[in-house]
Amino acid sequence: MIEPKIALPRLQPGMLRRPHLLEMVDGDGGATLTMVNAPVGYGKTTLLRLWCIERSEAVVWMTLDAADDDPVRLWTHLATAVERLGQGLGGRTLMSLGVRGAPVEAAVDELMNGLVAYGRPVAIVLDDL
Ligand SMILES: Nc1ncnc2c1ncn2[C@@H]1O[C@H](COP(=O)(O)OP(=O)(O)OP(=O)(O)O)[C@@H](O)[C@H]1O
Ligand SMILES: [Mg+2]
Repeated sequence: MIEPKIALPRLQPGMLRRPHLLEMVDGDGGATLTMVNAPVGYGKTTLLRLWCIERSEAVVWMTLDAADDDPVRLWTHLATAVERLGQGLGGRTLMSLGVRGAPVEAAVDELMNGLVAYGRPVAIVLDDL
């Protein structure tokens, strides 16, 4: 089964495959959080983009900008992307976030429930963190 890849950035043609780095991102397969840290322009986005398409599991990609340094905005964007993965998966989160003054933590819990309801592994990439 081919799992969806949501919002992957465009990849320039002719990119070099970097097997050693792809393996490093894979790790032992058990990581829940992986941080990719390298100087500007070293190929982080390109590497992760390649990694995403070579994996069978579902991927939700988010490219962050300065405005995402706001919890409501960040989680709204992520929930919108997760909703594209499957209808209803991010809907309750979006509703919670739409209630002014409601705790963001409750919305995050809803999003986790949505991801669990998906029933299969999902990789979330936050680029430009
Ligand atoms: N695997 C690769 N093969 C060939 N060229 C590459 C590769 N990775 C990166 N490049 C070149 O380097 C440029 C910068 O790569 P990329 O945008 O992935 O870096 P980055 O580390 O994400 O940069 P930034 O820190 O600005 O986000 C690409 O546009 C491409 O021209
Ligand atoms: Mg980048």
